[in-house]
Amino acid sequence: MDQTEIAKAYDNNYRAFKKGISSSESIDYYTSWGQTGGYEKDLSKGGTYNGPIEAAKAVGKLFPADRENVKILDIAAGTGYVGEELHHMGFLHVDALEPSEGMLAIAKEKGVYKNYILDILGGTKYSLGTDYYDCTVVSGGMGEGHIPCTGILEMIRIVKPGGIVVIAMREEYLNYVEEYKDKLEPMMEELEKEGAWEKIDRSIYDNHFVGKTGVLFLYRVKDKGESGR
Ligand SMILES: C[S@@+](CC[C@H](N)C(=O)[O-])C[C@H]1O[C@@H](n2cnc3c(N)ncnc32)[C@H](O)[C@@H]1O
Repeated sequence: MDQTEIAKAYDNNYRAFKKGISSSESIDYYTSWGQTGGYEKDLSKGGTYNGPIEAAKAVGKLFPADRENVKILDIAAGTGYVGEELHHMGFLHVDALEPSEGMLAIAKEKGVYKNYILDILGGTKYSLGTDYYDCTVVSGGMGEGHIPCTGILEMIRIVKPGGIVVIAMREEYLNYVEEYKDKLEPMMEELEKEGAWEKIDRSIYDNHFVGKTGVLFLYRVKDKGESGR
């Protein structure tokens, strides 16, 4: 990609995350961006966009064995980048949760997921079972108009005790997105104090998207009885 194309990619991505965008506006934008082929051109996996690779690598390290039986939910699955990576690593039970019909249609063509759930996290169309997944993973699903802080509670609910939550997001969103500023990380820490989960790691990686650093959160869910959640 030359500099002009990179600037265009950055601009197109900003349109999905721009200040004040509503959830439905963002989802509609993804449908048209995805269906024209623009999403995968602008966010090229391993090119302009490293989030899915970092997220999947973390899942791979935490589940080195028996991968075909590990139940994973790829939240905000988009066109299936994380699913592709996990499939290559031998994970065969990966479900995709994605609210944009256009994005999910592209993910379906890849054949790397077991089930496809057209919904937002915490939505009502499909009820996700409590303590069902061994792992949830998100790459790029956190941002303005995207997964709210309450999505974290939903991740903890649907992951089994001992299971893993993986979140890869643009680092600057922690302080730049109103929904997260002084809320998301304090809430994650509070949940740890309450005994809902424990932090395995918090690390920074390069080039989440177009040179912007990413932050990778890894948490292990604890016995729900301890926290009452
Ligand atoms: C930047 S894309 C990331 C897609 C994919 N994970 C990847 O890494 O390529 C963000 C995705 O989040 C989805 N999304 C937005 N709000 C969401 C919500 N509340 N719950 C679940 N997914 C959401 C969008 O539809 C979009 O496909």
